[in-house]
Amino acid sequence: MTDCQGEGAKSPMELYEKLTAKGDEVRVLKTAKAEKAEIDAAVQLLLKLKIDYKQMTGQDYKAGCPPSENSVAPNNGPAADGADDEDTVDPWNVSTNNAKGVDYDKLIVRFGSSKIDKELVDRIEKVSGQKSHRFLRRGIFFSHRDMNQVLDAYEKQKSFYLYTGRGPSSEAMHVGHLIPFIFTKWLQDVFDIPLVIQLTDDEKYLWKDLSLEDCHRFAVENAKDIIACGFDVNKTFIFSDLEYMGASPEFYRNVVKIQKHVTFNQVKGIFGFTDSDCIGKISFPAIQAAPSFSNSFPQIFKGRKDIQCLIPCAIDQDPYFRMTRDVAPRIGYPKPALLHSTFFPALQGAQTKMSASDANSSIFLTDTPKQIKNKVNKHAFSGGKDTVEEHRMYGGNPDVDVAFMYLTFFLEDDEQLEKIRQDYASGALLTGELKKLLIETLQPMIEQHQERRKQVTDETVKQFMTPRPLNFNF
Ligand code: TYM
Repeated sequence: MTDCQGEGAKSPMELYEKLTAKGDEVRVLKTAKAEKAEIDAAVQLLLKLKIDYKQMTGQDYKAGCPPSENSVAPNNGPAADGADDEDTVDPWNVSTNNAKGVDYDKLIVRFGSSKIDKELVDRIEKVSGQKSHRFLRRGIFFSHRDMNQVLDAYEKQKSFYLYTGRGPSSEAMHVGHLIPFIFTKWLQDVFDIPLVIQLTDDEKYLWKDLSLEDCHRFAVENAKDIIACGFDVNKTFIFSDLEYMGASPEFYRNVVKIQKHVTFNQVKGIFGFTDSDCIGKISFPAIQAAPSFSNSFPQIFKGRKDIQCLIPCAIDQDPYFRMTRDVAPRIGYPKPALLHSTFFPALQGAQTKMSASDANSSIFLTDTPKQIKNKVNKHAFSGGKDTVEEHRMYGGNPDVDVAFMYLTFFLEDDEQLEKIRQDYASGALLTGELKKLLIETLQPMIEQHQERRKQVTDETVKQFMTPRPLNFNF
């Protein structure tokens, strides 16, 4: 569907002018501290106009850079009516026809979340007193719900807690799974707040052809990889649903409350369940929702139900939390806030996310240096040209190049990254050289992770997974 505002614009220049005017309007509203709803409505229109602009010109809108006269969308650009070119993003599937990956601006409009703009990144930096994480600086965490509210409260000395999770479907996690955990660790460090991590072994039993025993074993194995990210045992509680649901009446009470307030029709609409799905799947979303409410953890929050929750995750998990946010006020709890990340792409390209069920699409945390080298050299989709001569002459395309995309996630130095981008685009840097840079970044990173994981004993896992008070006073 084309946006009603952009529809009237007949040329890229006309649309560009509309966009510039809307951008000015948003700035004026923000400066005048207008009502949040009014600002949000203007921002949504701005985002829709940006999508229309990209569809019309094939380029991203940049303030101060009017479109060139021959800017038109390529034939394979997203269809204006969106009908069959809509990206698929849900907890089970991520796919797009676009080699650059999912259109995240469009997703923000579709999901009704808000963009993490420069202003919010600066604010997080100011409130936390720390340089913002590269995931924020580079738009890898790109969307949020209510993050400003969390920061407002934090500035008034009202604390919050973090909640994230993992569905233990196999022993080995891949590099993509690390993204939310790396970022969550940074949030825990800079804000000094409690963290709860849910391992949904029940979910994986319901969805996959696995035994309960295997799912629980994978949960414990995955907990070791999560602990190896560096979480502080005094500030972190990790739990398996199969264990904690039975041990905590307070948690189960919240599950039941949520179940009572969501209908089958609603979950069918949100998750696409059908009449032939088992009833375990249909009621599962309530179990992923329950940790968003602080009184599910009486040992940590002393029964308080008013502590705000912030959930960092990739945007595939948002359907669970749209449901949770809808239910929260109806059962007397605050809505959880969210920070959404983009997807770490499959080696074959950004049309899909890295997935544990396809070994060749993923770099696993158990891979050896040799396996990493082979996978990158053999499978990583290249934006380079066919021959060295052509590459030197025309340059490569970093926007579709998987090795470059991976470096944006893991290379800390902004200047070095920008230089690599420019050199690759100009043809000075060849595909093989770019892949070598990635291999040299990934190999020590995974080796260090494996070293830290070796230090995690069964006793350490037990400590993290024992319900207990954390080092905070609530
Ligand atoms: P799971 O195990 O599929 O994924 C775990 C976390 O990793 C994110 N993720 C990715 N992030 C970036 N790039 C990728 N390629 C990629 N693949 C997965 C997911 O978004 C998730 O944050 N049902 C959940 C477990 C869960 C959970 C939660 C997750 C329970 N409670 C609260 C987040 C927040 C699951 O199966 O995640």
